[in-house]
Amino acid sequence: MTTMTRHEIVAERAESLLARMSLAQKLGQMIMSERMATTPDDVRDFHLGSVLSGGGSAPGANAVGDWVAMNDAYWTASMSEANGRLPIPLLYAVDAVHGHANVLGATVFPHNIGLGCARDPELVERTARVMAKEVLATGVDWTFAPTLAVAQNIHWGRTYESFSEDPAVVASYAAGYVRGVQHDLGTDGVIACAKHWVGDGGTTAGNDQGDTAISEEELERTHMSPYYPALEAGLLTVMASFNSWNGDKCHGHRYLLTDVLKGRLGFDGLVVSDWDGVDYLHEDYGTAIGMAVNAGMDVFMVSLEWKRCLELLQQQVEAGIVPMSRIDDAVRRILSVKLRFGLFEKPRPADRSWSNSDSFGSAAHREIAREAVRKSLVLLKNEDALLPLSRAARILVAGKSAHNRGHQCGGFTVAWQGETTNEAIVGGTSIWEGIQALAPMAALDEHGTSADPALHDVAIVVIGEKPYAEGMGDLRLGGRVEKGSHNPAKPHNLAPYGKTIELAQLHPEDLALITAIAAKGIPVVTVFVGGRPLVVNAELDASQAFVAAWLPGSEGQGVADVLLGDYPFHGTLSFAWPQSAAPSYKDEAPRFARGYGITTG
Ligand code: GLC
Repeated sequence: MTTMTRHEIVAERAESLLARMSLAQKLGQMIMSERMATTPDDVRDFHLGSVLSGGGSAPGANAVGDWVAMNDAYWTASMSEANGRLPIPLLYAVDAVHGHANVLGATVFPHNIGLGCARDPELVERTARVMAKEVLATGVDWTFAPTLAVAQNIHWGRTYESFSEDPAVVASYAAGYVRGVQHDLGTDGVIACAKHWVGDGGTTAGNDQGDTAISEEELERTHMSPYYPALEAGLLTVMASFNSWNGDKCHGHRYLLTDVLKGRLGFDGLVVSDWDGVDYLHEDYGTAIGMAVNAGMDVFMVSLEWKRCLELLQQQVEAGIVPMSRIDDAVRRILSVKLRFGLFEKPRPADRSWSNSDSFGSAAHREIAREAVRKSLVLLKNEDALLPLSRAARILVAGKSAHNRGHQCGGFTVAWQGETTNEAIVGGTSIWEGIQALAPMAALDEHGTSADPALHDVAIVVIGEKPYAEGMGDLRLGGRVEKGSHNPAKPHNLAPYGKTIELAQLHPEDLALITAIAAKGIPVVTVFVGGRPLVVNAELDASQAFVAAWLPGSEGQGVADVLLGDYPFHGTLSFAWPQSAAPSYKDEAPRFARGYGITTG
């Protein structure tokens, strides 16, 4: 009697389910609708396979219990057997991309650009593990992480979601991140989703969702290679990318989605579209849907028009444009992911062992985030070994991001575009709160007007960018820009953050503050909070010490730990730091090369 392998058991169970499913049930599994447009009755009546929260889309008061209750209602509806309905449990998905940061009180980790500077895959696996536990606490099954973008141009508003401009650094984190998130795919893991396939970080001029105009050799070497270790680690889902490759949208790219990813690389999980990403393939929605599914799209992420998507998908099948064999392949993949995740064996969300866990946002979780903050900091300048500071020093703490947990966290935190206050980030510490806890003679004065060399030995000035996400973080010379949409009705361009990579142009208030304090003879330690390197020559020259803190997340105390000498500077740049703001800045020698960082440990 030969025993079947786990893979064979899954395949057999998927086949058995498939054989019992109606066309409506099969097509329903291919829809991932947004919660704001979806009721539990919709899940039951249309056999929806998954529901998501877009950035900032939260139930009730956005507390853990509200999330568990919401997921319990959707799951229960998906298991209805009314009128002989076939119960297939629903998956709920969210962007937990630096902790489960949508949810109030979550542990918010440094965004990937900071983790990339730590050069510590074991640490990143631990952060992913903690994030998965906080996702499980809310009854959520699936996170759209890791981002494996290899950002090539810091004009891109999603640079901070990229671990590095070096594919080898990104690849070094990929497997551990997937293991940390998916774990044993039993009760202690959630489904990971590597994104965005493929070439999202390589668009011309860093235009979000733009065109990646490079050779296949460059696409493979720079943008595909980090996926290999993720696939090896058992990655279950991949998200298609908004960008085009040499003019052809990835969402409709059969060669990239099917021939390469599923064929050559043997990916046997499912491919999910990005947010309404199919809409940009063609001005006729039905045609666009047919193009996407025939290219290899398995799940359609649809914000509002999911009923129309379902209807048009059925029409495409009935018209013979989409063969039933492709539908069966997509549904087989979806069922296989659910079976490999153990979803059919899980109890309802409210009864799962991790739901409502007290570990959510716990001190133990925050300690791991604090360690990640410490290791992500990069010391770029330290004249006369000013750092570390003495705890007894009379420290003036100034700057718009000195006491602002919202600024520290950046985008994809509570709101899609992030938050700009302390109150919006429940739990954690601002950089000021961390300094205050260690240095009794420190004083906060955001505008630095009280700066006085008779009162202050040194100033810590925390400056940089305000939160943003996706295209709203782009720095574009030409303002709004067309994004390769083949659907004139949906040009989909977002107002950019600014037009230049020079900080003094984007935020002149920062240089003004640094120079005003330094002019009084007080040495300045500048701490940069932002999502990417920016041209900061004037700010560097006016500072005696300069630290890149990136987007450290909720645990600002990790910055204080290092500034005040409890821990050494460890981080090294995962992106070269630009010398000039010219569009061709990458052709010039950088101010600091990738790998640079003054380490003190
Ligand atoms: C967004 C992003 C993607 C995210 C998805 C769901 O547009 O491109 O990274 O996972 O929509 O929020």
